[in-house]
Amino acid sequence: MNKQALIQQILDVYDNDVAAIGRDIKSVIVSRRNQPAKKAVIPDTPVIVELKDVSKTYKLGKTPVTALDAVSLSIHEGEMVALLGKSGSGKSTLLHMIGGLDKTTSGDVIVDGVNLKKLRDSKLSYYRGQKIGFVFQSFYLQPFLNVTDNIEVPAMFARMKAHERHERSHSIAEAVGLGERIKSYGKELSGGQIQRVAIARALMNKPRILLADEPTGNLDQQTAETIFALFKKARDEFGATVIIVTHDEDLARRMDRVIRIADGKVMA
Ligand SMILES: Nc1ncnc2c1ncn2[C@@H]1O[C@H](COP(=O)(O)OP(=O)(O)O)[C@@H](O)[C@H]1O
Ligand SMILES: [Mg+2]
Repeated sequence: MNKQALIQQILDVYDNDVAAIGRDIKSVIVSRRNQPAKKAVIPDTPVIVELKDVSKTYKLGKTPVTALDAVSLSIHEGEMVALLGKSGSGKSTLLHMIGGLDKTTSGDVIVDGVNLKKLRDSKLSYYRGQKIGFVFQSFYLQPFLNVTDNIEVPAMFARMKAHERHERSHSIAEAVGLGERIKSYGKELSGGQIQRVAIARALMNKPRILLADEPTGNLDQQTAETIFALFKKARDEFGATVIIVTHDEDLARRMDRVIRIADGKVMA
């Protein structure tokens, strides 16, 4: 249905009482929030990420901080999973372990059949480059590169041939809705557009797994919506398994499955 027509209909039904519309929308949102979580359907595809009793302790001066406490979980190929938890619960640490960005204190991280513990540093960075796409706020865009050049950065490290690289970066830019902005630089882009570039860049090397840390954190509702749609596209059209860290209940419940994290542990 056409949006304008729908809005017109709603206004008619409410006799133009906008405040009443607001109240009713609010109550629908609240009742949706209180619905029991939908039952996750775990596909019968192979497990692609497995954590066995993973613990991570950081040292803050002399005090040890336990960020992860014996976490075990399995994620299947093609799933879209949210890791949901409050700030400080250990979500980013968990994502870093899966991405091979940091080592566990104990336990095993097995990705696509490979125990990351067994990889030397050079192999580990090869693993990251080949298998994982990162959408992390700390991985800034290069301000002196335009959109397509930014998207191509991981492919340069992977030594993809120039013509293939250009072709792919243009088609991905198109797929994420940046077709009109391929020559723009970071400072000419909105927050939502920058996040699109980050997702496009993460898809460049055809990763098996897309990891995103609070990807909608600084975005308004509408933009967050389009970013969520892009992750869905990454799964449906690019075949990636998608793992998103968030503290946003609404975003989390739209994924196939929610894994709740509290105090470094997975909640039942
Ligand atoms: N590099 C680090 N050094 C010391 N403590 C850390 C480090 N990274 C994270 N932590 C601590 O580990 C816990 C979990 O952090 P984090 O994984 O970033 O949580 P979240 O992403 O859920 O907010 C927090 O108590 C945090 O302060
Ligand atoms: Mg975090």
